[in-house]
Amino acid sequence: MNRPFTSVADLMAEMTLAEKIGQLHQSPNDTHLNAEEIRAGRVGSVICTSSAFAGNEDQERVRARKVNEMQRVAVEESRLGIPLLVARDVIHGHRTVAPIPLGQAASWWPEGVKDAAEVAGLEAYADGIRWVFTPMLDIARDPRWGRVAEGFGEDPYLAGIMASAAVLGYQGDDLAAKGRVAACAKHFAGYGAAEGGRDYNTTEISRNTMRNIYLPPFKAAVDAGVASIMSGFHEIGGVPVSGNRWLLTDVLREEWGFEGVVVSDWGAVAELVPHGMAEDKRDAGAKGLLAGIDVDMAAEAYLDHLEELVGSGVVPLANVDQACRRVLELKAALGLFENPYTEPDLADEVHFSAAAQSAVLDLARKSAVLLRNNGLLPLPRKIKTLGVFGPLHDNGRELLGSWCLDGIESDVVTVLDGIKAEFEIEKLYHSDLPDEASFQARHCDVVIVVVGEHHLRSGENNCITTLDLPAGQTDFLAGVKRMGIPTVAVILAGRPLALPRALNDVDAILYAWQPGTLGGAAVAEILSGTVNPSGKLPVTFPRTVGQVPIYYNHKATGRPTDPYGHGWSRYIDEKDSPLYEFGFGLSYTTFGYSDLQVAPHGDGFYISAQVTNTGAVAGEEIVQLYLRDHAATVTRPVKELKGFARIPLKPGESRPVSFELSRHDLGFYGADEVWVTEPGRFTFWVGPNSREGLSQEILLG
Ligand code: NOJ
Repeated sequence: MNRPFTSVADLMAEMTLAEKIGQLHQSPNDTHLNAEEIRAGRVGSVICTSSAFAGNEDQERVRARKVNEMQRVAVEESRLGIPLLVARDVIHGHRTVAPIPLGQAASWWPEGVKDAAEVAGLEAYADGIRWVFTPMLDIARDPRWGRVAEGFGEDPYLAGIMASAAVLGYQGDDLAAKGRVAACAKHFAGYGAAEGGRDYNTTEISRNTMRNIYLPPFKAAVDAGVASIMSGFHEIGGVPVSGNRWLLTDVLREEWGFEGVVVSDWGAVAELVPHGMAEDKRDAGAKGLLAGIDVDMAAEAYLDHLEELVGSGVVPLANVDQACRRVLELKAALGLFENPYTEPDLADEVHFSAAAQSAVLDLARKSAVLLRNNGLLPLPRKIKTLGVFGPLHDNGRELLGSWCLDGIESDVVTVLDGIKAEFEIEKLYHSDLPDEASFQARHCDVVIVVVGEHHLRSGENNCITTLDLPAGQTDFLAGVKRMGIPTVAVILAGRPLALPRALNDVDAILYAWQPGTLGGAAVAEILSGTVNPSGKLPVTFPRTVGQVPIYYNHKATGRPTDPYGHGWSRYIDEKDSPLYEFGFGLSYTTFGYSDLQVAPHGDGFYISAQVTNTGAVAGEEIVQLYLRDHAATVTRPVKELKGFARIPLKPGESRPVSFELSRHDLGFYGADEVWVTEPGRFTFWVGPNSREGLSQEILLG
């Protein structure tokens, strides 16, 4: 370093305006970036991807040695020796890949989500990465939107709990510690409400829905100390969020007190031009910075225009200083001034370690959801003749999901690999081909068909207009079943699919999402009963795409319908109810609920119920607490999740499960955007999903 680092303030006192602006520029690690730019102090951070579509493409591996070389130029050859901040999209794993975030949410297991984040953070750190663009906290009510895979589902409470877990997993309590990386909550905010489920599309979200549904997971991340926030690509009600001062400054900074870095999504500042908010890139740069974006990812709007914008008085110098200070403070918190380099051999030590494999395997075991079982599962571990069929039965890449840049296909345990290791099979048939499968199925005692989505059928900009299984797969299932052989469907997918026909065609359905590097092992252990499935849906499964958007925490309307009755707000060609409701998931055992008690506690309530394993095998039940506020100045959802607990129970064992809700917890954002708890009638439910459960009404004075 050319000067010893004392403090951010001292450093800034020596910086030229151009050097400050350089800190606000994030350069892609491609042809734009050369040593000359770094040496000139024109790059503050680097995103290690070679294009805006990194999530859909094969990317070059990042290596500590290469990162160290870039860093050496910054530290030793630039005038002030300010280290670079190196970033990458580490979404649900790095070398060792966990289930996609939607699958992680299905585990309802924040401890496991935290552990998987810690593993991913350490692996990324070992490659020289100190800033990861995760977690994605966009509530999604429309599974046509491909990015539903990357988030934690439709519920703000569950997503908020997972947000905190992920942030703590990546960041720990000291960003400068070995293995720690800065997290980034994205895409602030409301991106999941894209019209028609089409990526990057316009959103219309009322302030009330924004406050009560879309913002809470971000607030949870901020409260957990997330180091950075990424603004989205979309507009809300006419204001693109990357130029939205209300969101980025009034809410995020002034109300929530967020002091970290706000980075735009890739090129989103310059996209204020095609949005129709800015005349040109110069105007976009001014609007982005003034709205509250500190770092311009990949657009060069700040790099090319901020100096002149400050000179001409359009942008006050104070705004540039403030953004620069935030970036430098993050670098200081990460310890980059003292330790800019990464041990070149650390990756060999920590990548794909036993601890990493165990964390992602545990999460995959808990995230798979058993949707249907007529008693066929679990399968006996000794099987005479088994068929394992379907396009994904021995596929590795699809298990890693979209936005997976560093997972290695050859590390993956496919479903076939997992089955071979888990079962003793006398004769195993397997094939990708439907005709061969139905020919071979007739020789089998039982058949497992692995279907689902290619990893590029979900993820960024991969949106669909049908929620059916991809072409031919439902017929594949039907064709095999026609042989009269007991059939299990394992579905690997990045979104909820509408599966009404598949229901008639199979005896059991295990929905394993895209379960990561060890996903095939987890699936096989569940099929054999070594692991009792316990995941529950973090998102509603529609019967047909025509029901979308369909979500459990909807409003009653003035002409309500009950999900299974003949209400007024309905379709005439389809049931109103979902195929599978939010919170649903089966087990190989059964659980009974009794003795719901709601007692006053502090200024709120103590809610408890007895949960009993009424079946013959041990299992884990995810007990869910829901609330309804029957009359309020702003209408409230018919049910909203307020708590959950994952409870292990031996056969016959019974345990009390309790929750505490304060008076504050019974509130909501009202018409004036202020949190309020209003007296009146409330109902609590404690149960296994968002449809069933014991309930009790109370009166809040
Ligand atoms: C675009 C995506 O929307 C975002 O999630 C990602 O982090 C950035 N590109 C950087 O690659």
